[in-house]
Amino acid sequence: MSAAIIDGKAYAAGLRGRIAGAVAGLAGQGVRPGLAVVLVGEDPASQIYVSNKARQTVETGMASFEHILPASTSEIELLRLVRRLNEDPSVDGILVQLPLPKHIDAQRVLEAIDPAKDVDGFHPINAGRLMTGVGGLVSCTPLGCLLLVRSVRPDLAGLNAVVLGRSNIVGKPMAQLLLAQSCTVTVAHSRTRDLPEICRRADILVAAVGRPEMVRGDWIKPGATVIDVGINRVPNPAAGEGKTKVVGDVAFQEAAAVAGAITPVPGGVGPMTIACLLRNTLEAACLRRGLPVPAVDAAA
Ligand code: GUN
Repeated sequence: MSAAIIDGKAYAAGLRGRIAGAVAGLAGQGVRPGLAVVLVGEDPASQIYVSNKARQTVETGMASFEHILPASTSEIELLRLVRRLNEDPSVDGILVQLPLPKHIDAQRVLEAIDPAKDVDGFHPINAGRLMTGVGGLVSCTPLGCLLLVRSVRPDLAGLNAVVLGRSNIVGKPMAQLLLAQSCTVTVAHSRTRDLPEICRRADILVAAVGRPEMVRGDWIKPGATVIDVGINRVPNPAAGEGKTKVVGDVAFQEAAAVAGAITPVPGGVGPMTIACLLRNTLEAACLRRGLPVPAVDAAA
């Protein structure tokens, strides 16, 4: 292996520490940021995410409001809760956990969230602000990816960046963030031709396709920075019958032999998402009160 391992777990812990420091500073001014998380239904993975979010919110000194609703909740009831949270002055951030049950129109719910409290950055107003480069709240996972890239390559101007995946949650906002850093950005997806060839041009490669170990070592440009957003559970017969393990979208061992720096799975991008959610909640709390936003992104 030649690549440096980008330790997202350690970066996220440092970021949370700086957020906790800023939150303690706000407490002196009588301000306590608050994050409301809404979960509809009993999806086990979502239950774990939501309880982790609530725990880390409290650990950084913010107020956490959990709304756990049954899968039978109607769209009208959910919209009513969102409007109530929009009006609640103790709530600075609102996150509605996805996926929502099929009978609920997720887009309608996301668009009902006050853009000033949209800490997921999914509201079209915030997506549009990112595209036009006028600030606003940015989706947590791509923001975390950018912080990790910049931890190893502070200046990205002129570099070729390839984003694999075009989702609204990761691929599209990631491309916008890299463009804002003056990268030359290519967005590749399931219909892209000559994918390995396009990836081999990437100085920065972000893989967010949800296909286990799709990106092979010979797709990587020597010295490239590789960010693996994938979290794929696959069978692991070596550990015993019926056992599973989590792998990324990148074949880690092969890629690490070629790349300059790479994120592991787990322990790379994953821990950054919640840390960036807390960062966005801090930002929303300050902006809503006309306070300066503390700089927490990079270690001083
Ligand atoms: N489900 C999976 N990832 C996310 C996320 O970043 N935000 C929300 N709201 N739901 C998710």
